[in-house]
Parts: sequence; C-alpha cells; structure tokens
Amino acid sequence: MTTTIAPTLADKVARAPKAELHIHIEGSLEPELIFRLAERNGVTLPYASIDALRAAYAFTDLQSFLDIYYAGASVLLTEQDFYDMTMAYAERALADHVAHTEIFFDPQTHTERGVSIDVVVAGIERALADAEKQGLSSKLILCFLRHLSEEDALATFDAALPLFERYRHRLIGVGLDSSERGHPPSKFERVFAKARALGLKLVAHAGEEGPPSYIYEALDLLKVDRVDHGVRSIEDPALVARLADSRVALTVCPLSNLKLCVFDDLTKHTLKELLDRGVAVTVNSDDPAYFGGYVNTNYFAIIEALKLTDTEVYTTVRNSFEASFVTPDERAALIARLDAHWHGDGAQ
Ligand code: HPA
Ligand code: ZN
Repeated sequence: MTTTIAPTLADKVARAPKAELHIHIEGSLEPELIFRLAERNGVTLPYASIDALRAAYAFTDLQSFLDIYYAGASVLLTEQDFYDMTMAYAERALADHVAHTEIFFDPQTHTERGVSIDVVVAGIERALADAEKQGLSSKLILCFLRHLSEEDALATFDAALPLFERYRHRLIGVGLDSSERGHPPSKFERVFAKARALGLKLVAHAGEEGPPSYIYEALDLLKVDRVDHGVRSIEDPALVARLADSRVALTVCPLSNLKLCVFDDLTKHTLKELLDRGVAVTVNSDDPAYFGGYVNTNYFAIIEALKLTDTEVYTTVRNSFEASFVTPDERAALIARLDAHWHGDGAQ
C-alpha cells in the first residue's frame, strides 16, 4: 500500500504505547486458527478452505458480518481454545505496542453451544496472565448479545456473578454488542442497573448503525462510562456537545466502519470532526481478523484518510489512556510513557 503519512509520524504512532479499548476477542480469530481449531475439535465449517472463508469476508452491513463471526466462533470448545485465541491476540497487540487492552467477550455465543462460561473465562484469563508477564496490561468486559432477550442477559449476568468475584482483578465491566437495529439500549436497562449496583464499569455499542437516540439511551438509561462506536452522534450537534463536555469517550473503529459500510470511504469518516469538536475519540480495531488489521493498521488508515496532524494523533493516543479503566496511578504512568516517547528522546 502506498502511503502519504510522513514516515516519522507513521513510525512514531507505530511505536507509541497505546491502549486498545474496543476489541472483541472472538473477532481476533484469524482464518488459519479457525481451521486449526476446527480440525482439533472435529467441527465441520460451512467453508471448504481458509481461502473460501476469507473470500466470504465481503460485508454489506453489521448483520452480514455477525453471521460469519458467529460461524467462526463455533470452533471454540475447550479452555485451551480460548487460551490460544487470546494469546494470539496478545502477541499482535504487543507487536503494535499496546500497553493496555480492555477486551470484550460474548459468553452467550458459547453457552448457547454448551460451553460453560467458566471454561471461556478461565482460558482467556490464563492467556492474559501470561501476556501480563510480557508487558501487556489488560481488563475483560462481558458483553450481552442484544439480539437475544433481556431474560437471557439477566440469566447470563447471574451465571457470571461468581466470576466477577473470582476474577475481579480482570473482569471489571459489562457491555452490549451484536445486531443494533431494533435492539435499543432500553431493552437492557435492568441488567445494566444490576451491574452498576455491583460497581462494574459500563459500556455499550451505540450509534454504529443505530440512531443518535440509542446513544442518548446508552447515556441516560444504561449510564455508560464509554460509548462503543458512537459515530452517528455527528447527526445531533447537541449530543456531540454533550459528549465533549462530559468527556464520555467514543471507541471508534475506522476499518470496521469502512468494512461494514458505515462510511463508504474512509475520507468521509467523522473522527476528525468529532475530535475538532472536543469529543474524546479513540482508535481501535473492533474485530481485527475480519476487518483488515490490528490497532496500528487502524491508526495508519485513518491518519492517511483524514490527514491527521501529529497533535491530533497524539490526542487520540492520549485519549485511549484517559478513557481506560485503569487506576489514576496507572493512568499517570502510562501517559508519562507516552509523553516520553512522543515528546522525549524517542527511547521508548
Ligand atoms: N458491532 C456490534 N457487535 C459486534 C461488533 C460490532 O462492531 N463486533 C463484534 N460484535
Ligand atoms: Zn465492536
């Protein structure tokens, strides 16, 4: 790919310590690993080969992606499968100089197939503990599938209660993902209230394909700490002003938005306009195995498309730490590392 990003800026952002705040671990399953796990577990896939699977990655909207994403996740059966998937992501994240990551997982995708939530979390946790020894700090966020019922979400929350206790160093919040249209945040007000009562962090996908009213619902009814995607906020100036004033961050995923046709061209992406208006936007990969790249590739693509300046890129990287769920001391240390890299002698 030819690029017009200044080599110094490309190198600076590539090596900058950064946080990734919007990554579905099931969306990090590369086709090669899907086939390896299918073989290991005797699962038959509706695709004849790795190439045939990859050829199916031509999405027209969110649902066309989700259908394939859930098919891919069907190969995950054992604790070791969840370990292998998570370790593969951790290695890619470390290569992109991700210092801290907050990972989503979808327990209902697995419990529906008879895989217990304990197996899912144990495998992910074991990998994250190993990755931590290599310098990757991480948290885990349990997401409810919004196309399923409120009752199902409440049952999932109850089943996860012992895990919130046992893994409280890691499992720090709940989120909301899957098919957005027709499944407003209001459907999950009660389960989010329960999570809030436990002191958990709260996030929700809103305003990816859904209207700005879904973002208001996420803020006012679910009382989220961050909004995932949120790019359709641009249609409502009062909402943009509110996001800017409150510093409720948006976890934006440029290549996801392109591949799912939220924008037909990255030059039309609204990240820069949101940044100009003071919104705390961050850059993330969403489902990197499906959308064409990990977090650094997302930075390169959006910098190039929108001609972001050095200062704008610094702000988005800094926002990733500002918006993360680390402690104030950890945040200060991460920002000091970023500043030493960005403004210092480049020794990072
Ligand atoms: N949107 C909603 N649900 C998802 C996504 C997304 O981008 N990725 C994985 N689940
Ligand atoms: Zn997402």
